[in-house]
Amino acid sequence: MRILLADDDQITLRLLENSLKKTAYETVQATDGNEAWKILTTPPVPEIALLDWMMPGIDGTEICRRLRKQPTSAFIYIILITSNDRPQDITSGLDAGANDYIIKPFNKDELRSRVAVGARVVSYEQTLTRTNDALVKYSQHMELLAQERAQQLVQADRMISLGTMAAGIAHEINNPLTIAQGNINLLKNFWAYFGEKAYAASAPKTKKPEAFQPQPKDVREMIETSEKAIKRLRNIVDGMRSFSHGQGGSVEILQPEVCLRDAIQICLPKTKHVCEIAFHVNLPPFQVKANPVQITQILVNLISNAADALQGIPHPAITVDIDHDGGKLLFRVQDNGAGISQENLTKIWSPLFTTKPKGQGTGLGLAICMKIAQDHGGELKVESQAKKGTVFTLVLPNTEGYDRFLKENVQDDTGDEA
Ligand SMILES: Nc1ncnc2c1ncn2[C@@H]1O[C@H](COP(=O)(O)OP(=O)(O)O)[C@@H](O)[C@H]1O
Ligand SMILES: [Mg+2]
Repeated sequence: MRILLADDDQITLRLLENSLKKTAYETVQATDGNEAWKILTTPPVPEIALLDWMMPGIDGTEICRRLRKQPTSAFIYIILITSNDRPQDITSGLDAGANDYIIKPFNKDELRSRVAVGARVVSYEQTLTRTNDALVKYSQHMELLAQERAQQLVQADRMISLGTMAAGIAHEINNPLTIAQGNINLLKNFWAYFGEKAYAASAPKTKKPEAFQPQPKDVREMIETSEKAIKRLRNIVDGMRSFSHGQGGSVEILQPEVCLRDAIQICLPKTKHVCEIAFHVNLPPFQVKANPVQITQILVNLISNAADALQGIPHPAITVDIDHDGGKLLFRVQDNGAGISQENLTKIWSPLFTTKPKGQGTGLGLAICMKIAQDHGGELKVESQAKKGTVFTLVLPNTEGYDRFLKENVQDDTGDEA
């Protein structure tokens, strides 16, 4: 601990120095008020100050007053030194913010005891400040955590209500859609084999040029457009269905590389116009339990999004890595595409959020992926920089982690019912 000894009287200074000689304190000296003030405001600041009441420059009481006015400065324990013929100094000194006083001529033992009291108070103050800092940090951390949790809850709530709604809508649309899909297929075949020729031969020719007179190829196009529209509806309905209850496959020991190869194969019709997909496999030394159909579905969504983000990019590249870290399996899907703006980074998980042109995106892909990842006790993370690219990381727990996740969730459910 550092102690400032400030007195304009050399004899007093020497006496003070001698009294504290065999102690563990480090002393610094000042012979006037200005020098003392400089030492007290330049790091490393002494923790204890012995200040003469009367000094050239700034006197002891004034130094006290100034120090106490600086709310951010570290605590300094101040002992004023005064003469026995000026008792009024004591009250004005204490009022100015001094912690203690000592009267000249002083007793060495008493001085050491008073300094020791100061040292104890300083160390309490330091502990308090440290605890306080830790508390502030902790409460800031808790506040952030609470905000994050609140956001997750809102998101989860939105997902649940959307899931229920999606299931209902998908169910309602499914039957009429199946009929329309079947009929349009029949019509397409019928038109190709019989209709087109017969129509060309027998269609009445109107004289009015402005009247719409469909040519055989127009009818073919109409059928094809309807077929495409129905296919798109089918995609949306299937998306909604698998969003509300993940379909297909069952949980087994995962073969990550098989899922990845399947996903790349499924995406080929789309990605072959964009780039080849590079991949690296670093299989974990542990096993992972998961539904391979659903994991493939996540990879398909992520690769397909990456391909979309690479439209018009000069050197498009998609890389998929299988890796592991801390007992968790990782699938990393990386692209050097358009990236995601800071603002959209939190929105992309919301069902129906899409930035794609009308008719191209359903906005369900990432919401489904997130739900599947969470159902596996895993997570899906994103890092992205606008105009640089994006990395999505699917994290899956190992077998023990997955079993623990299942057990905890089953227990939670039972707990709720009880
Ligand atoms: N790899 C990516 N690069 C840039 N943006 C992406 C990427 N993946 C997803 N996004 C953004 O997230 C949005 C939501 O994705 P998603 O839920 O799959 O729905 P959709 O693909 O139908 O738009 C996309 O519209 C896009 O803005
Ligand atoms: Mg998508």
